[in-house]
Formats: sequence, structure tokens, C-alpha cells
Amino acid sequence: MTIFQFPKDFKWGTATAAYQIEGAAQEGGRGPSIWDTFARTPGRVYNGDNGDVACDSYHRYEEDVELMRELGINTYRFSISWSRIIPDGDGEINQEGLDYYHRFVDKLLEAGIEPFCTLYHWDLPQTLQDVGGWENRRSIDAFVKFSEVMYREFNGKIRYWLTFNEPWCIAFLSNVIGVHAPGKQDLQAGLDVAHNLLVAHGKSVSKFRELGVDGKIGIAPNVAWAVPYSKTEADQGAADRNIQVFSDWFLDPIYKGSYPKPLYDWFEQSGHVPPIHEGDMEAIAQPIDHIGINYYAMSVNRFNPDGGYLQMEEVDMGLTKTDIGWPVESRGLYDVIHYLQKYGNIDIYITENGACINDDIVNGKVNDTRRISYLQQHIAQVHRVIADGINLKGYMAWSLMDNFEWAEGYRMRFGLVHVDYRSLKRTPKESFYWYQNLVKNNWMET
Ligand code: NOJ
Repeated sequence: MTIFQFPKDFKWGTATAAYQIEGAAQEGGRGPSIWDTFARTPGRVYNGDNGDVACDSYHRYEEDVELMRELGINTYRFSISWSRIIPDGDGEINQEGLDYYHRFVDKLLEAGIEPFCTLYHWDLPQTLQDVGGWENRRSIDAFVKFSEVMYREFNGKIRYWLTFNEPWCIAFLSNVIGVHAPGKQDLQAGLDVAHNLLVAHGKSVSKFRELGVDGKIGIAPNVAWAVPYSKTEADQGAADRNIQVFSDWFLDPIYKGSYPKPLYDWFEQSGHVPPIHEGDMEAIAQPIDHIGINYYAMSVNRFNPDGGYLQMEEVDMGLTKTDIGWPVESRGLYDVIHYLQKYGNIDIYITENGACINDDIVNGKVNDTRRISYLQQHIAQVHRVIADGINLKGYMAWSLMDNFEWAEGYRMRFGLVHVDYRSLKRTPKESFYWYQNLVKNNWMET
């Protein structure tokens, strides 16, 4: 038996995102977002599910904060629905939207829970998409305006900020692979989106500093970790590209003011480069205070000429998988955090980590032991990282409760709390009590 004790001021939390939990899609003056549209497009989301009701957290946020209080967490990561604040993306401000987030943040603060706010978790206002979305530089200005509204309004209440959640998903998964909104399959579109969101990120960070907001700001990439299947140059190249497209493609411009050369050259060979305007790289390279990392799995990669834009394929090594099919391998969390040290000993938060385990209620209980085991393995790696002297400051489990899992609809469950989507009843799972115990003790036994 080993005891892993965590630092005194460690942040323990859970994470969610607006479209995945709020519901009330046509209420409170909210405008439509690209996910409303995408979910209504036949064949895009499993079972035709959408976020119209989701967990109904827009109406049930008090109950949700009560659950957080019971869980004992000191931090809660959530996102803002841009189209609740500015329904058409860059026009009038909707006071009702601001009021909602004030009520919610006030509740968190009353419960002694630190709000950790993501500005953009994928729900671009549809009106902006109608004129090209993130491919159009107009979205840069619109995002800076939206973020300025939030900084001014919540300065003093929200101290921890993230601009973008999982930039790889926004750019590549949504525009090159095409399984998320807006669902394009076009490498150039992916590079355009990645670049424009980086400029939007940098300009928003500059605005944050200019306003003198009392708080810290960063970005949350999903830093998938990969190892090559063999020592051949081809396989190593495939794994490197996979790592770089998730991490370096976004963090190099921010930390170094340039794109990573090997991957830049790779894209250039196929005739595609990011659309860099004068001054862009300087605008992107603003010092940030932390990075949030979302980690779920690692992969073993090999070269495959038919393997899409990276000519890479994942090899199934027969590891245990969660119910969404992702292999369980916690070592990648440790390795990727070490990899990121090349940017310096920056403050890191694990802004998402968790397991999709679809266990249901049996005799009033959800006995999700596989989720507990997943969390235990990954949190043990968190402890190792801290013991190495790395500034890892907090851990946020994905997710507080089951929610709308994007293209997978409601069938994939990541919550510590079970949600019955008919009655909207919340039932804490066994993992909830396990996490509660860890948070209370601030140590874990393995
Ligand atoms: C990443 C995303 O940020 C979140 O929205 C999603 O539900 C989880 N990972 C699980 O896939």
C-alpha cells in the first residue's frame, strides 16, 4: 500500500461545457450555435440527439452546485455559451445571458468553489458560421469582443480563465476529419481555423492584460500522447506528427511565435500552409499564465499512406478500453506533461481527465468500479508528476455528470453523477463517493 498525499492548495474539481449540460437552447435570449445546427443535420449525431434539454442545468444549476458542495470540490470548470451573451456573435449583448452566469457564479462562490471558466467550448454562434465561421477572420474580432464583455463583467468574480478548449478538435476534428460541427473535410479549412483561433486567443489574452483583469489566463489543448509502433523512421514520423498536431501546432506559436517546422513542412508538401498575415505571430505569442491539458488516452502509431492528413494509423495493442473504445494507459499522462516541460516549468492544470463507462443504475446504485480504477491510475500519475517538481496545480475530472457527448449523443457517459435523461434525476455514482473521499483527505491510497 502506498499513500499519495497532494499539496495543500491543490485544486480538485470537475469539468463540464455549456452545450453539453445547459439545455434551454431556445430560452433566455440565446441565439443558435453551430451545434444546434449540426445536431439537427440527419446522420451527424448518434440517435439524432441534441442539446436542447441536455441535463437542463440552465434551470437546475442550484441543484448542481449542491452536488458539487456534497462532492467537496474546491474548483469547477465550466464554459460560457457565446450565443447566450451575444446571440448573433458580434452584435447586441443579451443581459439575460449575463444575468444567468452571474447567478450561477454567485452560487459557486457562496459554496466556496472557485470558478474556472472556458470561453469557447465549441458552440460558435451560427450567424458567424453563416459567413465562414472560424475560416473568416471576422470571428477573431468577434471572439475578442465577446471575451472582453466577459472579462469586464466578471472581473473580481472569476479568476481562472481559458480561451479555447481543445483547439485540435475545433480545427482538425471539425474541419478536416469532419465528425464535429461544422463537419467539413478540408485540410486547408483546418489550417485556416487553427490559425484564426490562435490569433483570436492571442488578441484576447492581450485584451485581458490591457484591462488589468485580476486573474490568470491560458488555453486547454488536448495533448494526446503517442508512441511509435516500431523504430523505423516512418513510424516515428507518424507518431511525431500525431503528437505535434495536438500540442506543438498550438503551443509553439504561443510560446515561440512560430509553427513547428517539421509539421509545417509536412502540410506544405501537400500544398497547404496556415494563412499568416503580418503581425499575426506576434499577436499569438502572448505570455500566458497556465495551460490546461485534457488527457484521455495514448496511442501507438504507425505510418500508413492511406492514414488521412497525417498518413498515420493507430495500432490496437489490445489494451483495456473504456466504453467509447479508448485504450486505458495512464503513463501517457506522465510522459506528455514531461514533454510539455520544453516550454518551461509553467503552471499546468489537468482540465479534463475521465472515463466513459456506461454502467447504469442497479438497485439505486451505479457501481462504476472501472471508472474508479481509471481515475485512481491517472491520479497516481498526477502525484508522480508533482513529485518530479512540476507545477501541476489542479485536477478536474470529466465530468461532474453524464452529458451530451457531441457526435455520440447521450449514449456515452462520463459523469461521476448519473443523469436519467427522461426525469433528469441526478444520482451520484460510486465514483462520486470515491472522489469525495480523495478530495476530503487530500491523499489517496493505492
Ligand atoms: C473532450 C471535450 O472537451 C469534452 O467536451 C468531451 O465531452 C470529453 N473530452 C469526452 O470526450
